Amino acid sequence: MPNQKSKNQLQKLKPRIISWLKENITQKRFNHIVRVSKTAKKYAKKLKLDQYKAELAGWLHDCAKEMTNQQLLRLARKKRIKLDEVDFINPHVLHARVSAVIAKEKFGIRDPDILGGIRCHTLAEPNMSKPVMLLYLADAIEPGRDKKWIQPVIKTLKNEGLEKAVLQAMDQKLSEVIKKGRAIHPFTINARNWLIEKIM
Ligand SMILES: [Fe+2]
Ligand SMILES: [Fe+2]
Repeated sequence: MPNQKSKNQLQKLKPRIISWLKENITQKRFNHIVRVSKTAKKYAKKLKLDQYKAELAGWLHDCAKEMTNQQLLRLARKKRIKLDEVDFINPHVLHARVSAVIAKEKFGIRDPDILGGIRCHTLAEPNMSKPVMLLYLADAIEPGRDKKWIQPVIKTLKNEGLEKAVLQAMDQKLSEVIKKGRAIHPFTINARNWLIEKIM
């Protein structure tokens, strides 16, 4: 069976991840994580992608979400994550890259689609694979998010495909960032330009 390996990996890791999350993450965040992994699984099936990898990426995507800015910056430096000016203005965005480090080092994840999905779920990056884009989308459209944001994106996903739905979710996030007067990370600008070129 094609997905047997990823199915086994998910089954093996899930109980360990859940107990680790329960110790390191609040219940509210945990509930979000459950919804993201379910959403990722649901749309992976629809898009004919590996549902087990999608679910696993969902389980791990926010594992560093509740670290303090100081902890995130310290870990990022320690792990030699290349930092941009915006990472210093808003270190919280580092939680995605740090979560990918934890997924790799603590849970032994090696799959580039899983690690990439975790790493890119907040800011996105150019050259995202379909499973990576799926996790970005699952985080944006999990049912706990505001309906007025998620419904148009789900409609776009259904009618126009994954790339356009990702672009739409990205633009919604960007409009919020602009409304709040915050800095835009160059990863997102580069990812958006890449998507536009890809869609054209
Ligand atoms: Fe996140
Ligand atoms: Fe999240």
